[in-house]
Amino acid sequence: MIASDDYAFLSDLLKRHSGLALGPGKEYLLESRLPAVAVTYGHGDITGLVHALRAAPPKELVKHVCDAMTTNETMFFRDGKPFVALEKELLPAAARRARSQGRPVRIWCAASSTGQEPYTIAMIVAQLESQLEGVKVEITATDFSAAALQRAKAGIYNQFEVQRGLPVQLLMKFFRPHPDGFELVPDIRQRVSYREINLLDPFPSFWQFDIIFCRNVLIYFDVATKKSVIDRMATLLLPGGALFLGGTESTLGITDSVVRAPGNASGLFCRPQDLEFHTVKAA
Ligand SMILES: C[S@@+](CC[C@H](N)C(=O)[O-])C[C@H]1O[C@@H](n2cnc3c(N)ncnc32)[C@H](O)[C@@H]1O
Repeated sequence: MIASDDYAFLSDLLKRHSGLALGPGKEYLLESRLPAVAVTYGHGDITGLVHALRAAPPKELVKHVCDAMTTNETMFFRDGKPFVALEKELLPAAARRARSQGRPVRIWCAASSTGQEPYTIAMIVAQLESQLEGVKVEITATDFSAAALQRAKAGIYNQFEVQRGLPVQLLMKFFRPHPDGFELVPDIRQRVSYREINLLDPFPSFWQFDIIFCRNVLIYFDVATKKSVIDRMATLLLPGGALFLGGTESTLGITDSVVRAPGNASGLFCRPQDLEFHTVKAA
């Protein structure tokens, strides 16, 4: 059983470094996920691990502890509706604006986990390409977890993962058999560039996006951290831009920097001044 002051110490460390707000009563989570990290680094058990972390924690150990505590759950075409809105409305509209300004469409998939979300976007872009009249689409995918990013870059998914959400015709079109399951074709892999980014850190100042996906990660943060992330993302949105949050996530009582797009039930938000751009109906 984890000591209460060790629990308090680890909760504080996780909140400061990854944003994870553990709250009370989550001892079982630490007890199930941290012993392996303790053993890997030669600290025996959680008590030894906390001792090392209290002394002079090497950056790599802190990172590994945070990584072990994050949830990487994801799937292709998760929740469906956001991707219908992307394909039918948002991408064509963003391409029209980008074309008139002589620039690419820019999409950021924040908290991209093992890649199913950015590759879903990439497959939609590939399918729509002939209608985009030569406008390029840049997809930047980021995550805090180096392990998740490594898996994402490899683009290899097992049978279970491709059976969750991926239409069979897209499996046949964009994947090839691989000894570990299925491998994405290079054309889709190369459409996504990956980068390690902690959402708590300042974002690169030159970043601007037409569409940002930040789904199913803010649920783990406290209100102040959610507000900080959403407000900073809102400043990166180009005029007419869109921010997707997870289906159960809301900005109510958190911030006014973005508002729910009218008539939409798929987690689509925009800056208040961009409401006129968004006429996407619930799909
Ligand atoms: C549940 S997954 C969501 C994946 C995908 N967005 C989706 O909706 O299917 C949450 C992801 O957030 C990442 N994450 C957690 N804290 C983070 C932080 N502070 N900065 C960046 N990514 C973080 C985790 O590593 C994990 O891959």
